[in-house]
Amino acid sequence: MRRAVCPGSFDPVTNGHIDIVSRASRLFDEVVVAIGVNKAKASARLFSADERIEMLELACAPYPNVSVAGFDGLLTTFCEQNGIKAIVKGLRAVSDFDYELQMAQMNSSLVDVETVFIPTSPEYSFLASSLVKEVATFGGDVSRLVPPFVLERLTKRLAERAAGGAGE
Ligand code: PNS
Repeated sequence: MRRAVCPGSFDPVTNGHIDIVSRASRLFDEVVVAIGVNKAKASARLFSADERIEMLELACAPYPNVSVAGFDGLLTTFCEQNGIKAIVKGLRAVSDFDYELQMAQMNSSLVDVETVFIPTSPEYSFLASSLVKEVATFGGDVSRLVPPFVLERLTKRLAERAAGGAGE
């Protein structure tokens, strides 16, 4: 059984993430989409882990061999606990490569795991959750970049934030 993990912050999941997950689902018997904590992005988080899991579950529903999970600690610990030997990452551009290579090498130095890079489809090469949030915050149209159920939650959350509400 070839099992892989697609890790990320997914705050929120975008069409670019779904593209990578769907392609990984054709390469592996089982794919776990795992929501982890990126310390560098923690302060900019818009959705709780449960909210991100819910959106990912909707996004991954069309792929029967894909499941969704959350994890708190190291990705390598999650891999060990779940018998996972492959980490799948999307690469958008050369600018992603330095950081991703460093993480891949660190992860494989910790446990027996390989990182597999999948080049992002050209139509999504500019796409990042952080940019989606920024564009949407200023009223830009992101409807082609995220699934409709994400757009709905994003619009609601940003409106709550703008009104000074208690949303996550
Ligand atoms: O979508 P992101 O923010 O690029 O995802 C990064 C993520 C969450 C996959 C990465 O930060 C991660 O693996 N975090 C878990 C903690 C960990 O293992 N850190 C060491 C990485 S070498």
